[in-house]
Amino acid sequence: MSRTLATLAAAAGLLLSTGAHAVEISLSCSALGKEYEVCKEGADAWAQKTGNTVKIVSTPNSATERLALYQQLLAAGAGDIDVFQIDVVWPGILGEHFKDLTAEATGLNEHIPAMVDVARVGGKVVAMPWFADAGLLYYRQDLLDKYNRQVPQTWAELTETARIIQEGERKAGNNDFWGYVWQGRAYEGLTTNALEWVASNNGGTIVNDTGEITIDNPNAAEALKTAAGWVGTVTPEGVLNYTEEESRGVFQAGNAAFMRNWPYAWALAQSDDSTIKGKVGVAPLPRGGADGRHAGTLGGQLLAVSRYSKNADAATDLVMYLTGQEEQKRRAIEGSFNPTILSLYEDADIKKSAPFIGNLREVFANAVPRPSGVTGEDYNKVSTEFFNTVHQVLSKRAEPAQALTRLDRDLKRIKRDGWQQ
Ligand code: GLC
Repeated sequence: MSRTLATLAAAAGLLLSTGAHAVEISLSCSALGKEYEVCKEGADAWAQKTGNTVKIVSTPNSATERLALYQQLLAAGAGDIDVFQIDVVWPGILGEHFKDLTAEATGLNEHIPAMVDVARVGGKVVAMPWFADAGLLYYRQDLLDKYNRQVPQTWAELTETARIIQEGERKAGNNDFWGYVWQGRAYEGLTTNALEWVASNNGGTIVNDTGEITIDNPNAAEALKTAAGWVGTVTPEGVLNYTEEESRGVFQAGNAAFMRNWPYAWALAQSDDSTIKGKVGVAPLPRGGADGRHAGTLGGQLLAVSRYSKNADAATDLVMYLTGQEEQKRRAIEGSFNPTILSLYEDADIKKSAPFIGNLREVFANAVPRPSGVTGEDYNKVSTEFFNTVHQVLSKRAEPAQALTRLDRDLKRIKRDGWQQ
């Protein structure tokens, strides 16, 4: 039999076994660490079950760049991507382009309430919660033991311990060693880091629940001053261009005492090829000054079906499969992606593979949301002004207090034309 005939026969066989309506769904996934691989395994399992195929479209690592790509595709009404992985802060920005999943989302109330809030825009369910994120402090237990230090509870303690360990490790010959790495590039990730500094120091959440701009305050300025003090001392200058993966690279190579990152970094730090396997702990991020609190920014991702999809039914089925119980459990074990389905927090297999998921339940329950709900379509503008301002302060091009006064003025301008009804 010729090659073409054999291929045709194989294709016919496949169609017979799966029904004549097999389709190809394209799914956008993020690719941080092993996220792409974990996403593909889930999509392949669905494909096998249904006889459809899934093409994975990998997207830029930076949330800000990914949003720009999505906005371009969706504004053009392009049907290239059927299922979009979207950030918790995007439903208000992109929601109009997504199919209403209210009819299919019967189990929505079993998910973390904050994620359910995010999924609903204007009475519609525009996306299904997939995994939850919260900013966490990763630390090297072996080095805390070596230098006889505790897990820091305040930013002042973190600064001091980072300095002590950095000095010690450098003296011992590792000139590449740093105290603390995090995400300082001018992008959405910096908004999440800086919100933690500010909120943990009682400086609010940039814009409050009723839409009032609150960022121009002394506690916020003080928090930014502390962070700017890390750059070039316990944190490499290069952090000003770090996203999640650059900071993980330094930490996982064994070159940092502390790292701020999301849950996904756990599975990688603990993988067999990791130099720091078995040496890492995870804790809530430190508190600010006297009456500060532990604050981790709420992050996470949802899956949405494009209104421009030509195969919306199959795409919806894929979304329900990927966000369902079985797949969320597999992802928690394989990739330490925090489930959004509450009952999975009691699951013994998950507790075993990623103990922090159960231990830090409170951190996730009390995670600090960004003001994306109240600013709606304007959220990206607000966040961009915020991260650019913070980036100026970190790179010593602006003083915190003056920078925040300017930011307040710029946000007021956006508010006048925007979220103020
Ligand atoms: C993670 C979070 C997301 C956040 C982004 C910032 O992907 O899930 O909510 O916006 O990081 O870099």
